Amino acid sequence: MTRSKDSIVDATTPSAGRIYDYLLGGHHNFEVDRQAAEYIRSLAPFVTKFVRLQRWCLKDVAHELTTVRGYNVIIDFASGLPTQDNLHVVVPEGTTVIYSDYDPVVVQYAREILGDTPNVHFFEADARRPEEFLNRPEVLEIIGGRRDVAIVYWGVGLFLTDDEIDHAAQYLYEWTSAEGCWAFNLQGAGLNKDNPAGVEILDTYAKMGTPAFVRSLEEYVELLKPWRVDEPGLVPLLEWHGLDSSDMSELDITMFGTAGAGYGAYLVK
Ligand SMILES: C[S@@+](CC[C@H](N)C(=O)[O-])C[C@H]1O[C@@H](n2cnc3c(N)ncnc32)[C@H](O)[C@@H]1O
Repeated sequence: MTRSKDSIVDATTPSAGRIYDYLLGGHHNFEVDRQAAEYIRSLAPFVTKFVRLQRWCLKDVAHELTTVRGYNVIIDFASGLPTQDNLHVVVPEGTTVIYSDYDPVVVQYAREILGDTPNVHFFEADARRPEEFLNRPEVLEIIGGRRDVAIVYWGVGLFLTDDEIDHAAQYLYEWTSAEGCWAFNLQGAGLNKDNPAGVEILDTYAKMGTPAFVRSLEEYVELLKPWRVDEPGLVPLLEWHGLDSSDMSELDITMFGTAGAGYGAYLVK
């Protein structure tokens, strides 16, 4: 596992998680991360908007899953830091939110940020192996045998291999009850992996020990089966925020595609 490379403990190597934090305007990053982030931004100025498009969906996702779809347990993988734009800030009182991340230092900071916020938990877990997390005694105790829950994978799809997505899809399909729902960010679908600057960025992530796997929308949908995409369908991140490609420059579109570098969907059985 590449965890140590993606932890803030190692201040000499940039980390994908801390670069994301920096691009979002956060403070949990080091000079080495800021330099890598600025390098990426110099190649792809749209990356700042991209991370915001991705993160700002989460409040909507939380509202949709709870107030609209009626879930009162949300289990989130690869949560990053639970700052103002994350799930627990908008869920109705009484909702249980179980966050997780594979970076132990994200977990440590996250617990500091959350303090004793009621019904909100943060654990160390790997999105590649959801079975380990869902069978942990602490998690089983919190959910008490419930399987009619909402699962969230947001902002992590690009860092999972095809086999890892396929495995998570199969496992979560079996594990959740018939009423289960999976909010999934088809991260990076539409990215142009042949663009020279894009190749450079992918190379930067690979060197950090967190390779990114660019795939098309169709490839994602195939990997996510047997889950099916519920209404309102595969929503481009731009459209999710009421924007369209006129909000992108030609360079942005050439690199990121017209969707805003990803889609979001509610997957059901
Ligand atoms: C791009 S952030 C996404 C955060 C948040 N979910 C969002 O959408 O804004 C990526 C986070 O995923 C974590 N991560 C990456 N791969 C992971 C994995 N296999 N399991 C758990 N966490 C992972 C990183 O540590 C980082 O905090």
